Amino acid sequence: MARFTKILLTVLFVLAVVVEGKKKKNPNKKFPPCTNTVLSDQEIDRTPKFKPSVRHRGVTLIPVAFDARVQWPKCDSIKLIRDQGMCGTCWAVSGASVLSDRICIASGQKINVQVSANQAASCSVATQTPTQNCNAGGDAANVYKFASLYGLPTGGEFNSKVGCVPYQVGNSAVPLTCSTKCTNPLYTTTIASDNRMIDSYWITYQKQNTVMNQTTIDTVVNQMQTEIMTNGPITVSIQVYNDFQTWDADDGVYKGPGAGAQKIGGHAVKLIGWNKDKTGTPYWIISNSWGMDAGEEGLYWVQMGKNVIGIESSISAPTVSLPNTCTGASFCNKPIDSVILSNVKDSKSPAYLFQGACIQQVSITTAGKLTAVGSAVPISKVFLGAPAPPIIGSFLQSNLPWLINSANQAGSNCQQPTGASKFTCGGGSISGSTPGAASTNFYSGSTLTTWSYYPNNQNWLFDTNGNGKSIGTLITSKFTGITGMLNLDGSRMAVFGKDAAGKPLAGVMAYPTAAAAGASWIIQPGPPSGVLTCAA
Ligand SMILES: *[C@@H]1O[C@H](CO)[C@@H](O)[C@H](O)[C@H]1NC(C)=O
Repeated sequence: MARFTKILLTVLFVLAVVVEGKKKKNPNKKFPPCTNTVLSDQEIDRTPKFKPSVRHRGVTLIPVAFDARVQWPKCDSIKLIRDQGMCGTCWAVSGASVLSDRICIASGQKINVQVSANQAASCSVATQTPTQNCNAGGDAANVYKFASLYGLPTGGEFNSKVGCVPYQVGNSAVPLTCSTKCTNPLYTTTIASDNRMIDSYWITYQKQNTVMNQTTIDTVVNQMQTEIMTNGPITVSIQVYNDFQTWDADDGVYKGPGAGAQKIGGHAVKLIGWNKDKTGTPYWIISNSWGMDAGEEGLYWVQMGKNVIGIESSISAPTVSLPNTCTGASFCNKPIDSVILSNVKDSKSPAYLFQGACIQQVSITTAGKLTAVGSAVPISKVFLGAPAPPIIGSFLQSNLPWLINSANQAGSNCQQPTGASKFTCGGGSISGSTPGAASTNFYSGSTLTTWSYYPNNQNWLFDTNGNGKSIGTLITSKFTGITGMLNLDGSRMAVFGKDAAGKPLAGVMAYPTAAAAGASWIIQPGPPSGVLTCAA
């Protein structure tokens, strides 16, 4: 009898759950008119592309099911279903949500914060006015770019009193102002010290009018899964139809718009994992930003591997700090791969030395020495969108740095937005001999332009017009190869390279003048520490 009661109760409970499930399908629920803008092809070209992080090496097998909430149970933000209210800020809300998750995951599940969707929405697209911020749209990549250049403070949900700048939008659209101080009176930390910075970000976007074939989709699915398992949730942009808006789990995995379904518009959401249904259909687990009443308690299941509603065509994510294995001491004693001045028009502008996966900023003293500024850091912390290290070639074109690796991949036109400490580079590749040569540019005010060193012309340095200036055996008597040259002040140049035994060398040379074609050493080539001063 007791057993029968138990079974009966179980049946009633299951029925109740089903009825409860049906009740959730609420045709009166208002969905925010989300306006995820698609990045232009030019913007896609300029933005850092997907590149596997160091941590990717740990992933070998991709399981049938994965759920970030289970993998990182102490990261509260992964479980949180956000609500964008009646603003078209899906891109900012899902971006802030992914950022929060990844900060927690990178910290070993120790840092639990909610990054402010309000600031993400109101600050990330500089051209938008407060009135536009609510509805003009954007892309999660805007959020990641902003957070890597300027940082974002914390801020919880609408009416939450959590964090520095909580969300301001409920059931009606309001203008969103990019705040310069915390708006939550109960929060005592200042906005500056509350800011969360990230290292960099990446996108994998199909250009407009590109149709993805199955091979490409399969590759992207594998990248997405590997990335989620290694670094956490990602953002994707999708096309929303009215039958997606009213979807819940009773409908089964969403396989695209049904007959007669109406297209509503673009949307951005967070992917937190994947699974297979009873019939073996694989699906992504979406954490949506329409609150807990939408979908299956905020979640949606969308078929995987068919680019349904474009779910595999536009993906982005922030990269959060890897442990810093770069040290200043190594820069003083090991070979320098490449060097570059950040602005050719200003010889006092920051200069950077590259070594393996690390970068060191240096300043130039009047004595012609280089002094380390701050500590050595991973290249991606300074040049967003740099190609995979090591950087073995760099040059300035139209005053903008270009970075090149041995695979001839380029971080092109690296620009430093006003007030930012980082450069954002476009992607691309480079042909020709540039990676094998070293060059330096002379700031305006010098009669010289660019000097280049070519491995098979070791006795000469050339300007851009091909006019050679003999430096005799000055270079070849000391160096077997030159990796970098840095214009110091229009009359001197730091030279980095190796000697015949492969030992790192650096020296400072006085330029040959137009009248007298000779050059001379001011600091004789020796260990780089003779030219570069690092902290002890
Ligand atoms: C699929 O598309 C990619 C990218 O456009 C292309 O490189 C590849 O050759 C295509 N593969 C097949 C099998 O059509």
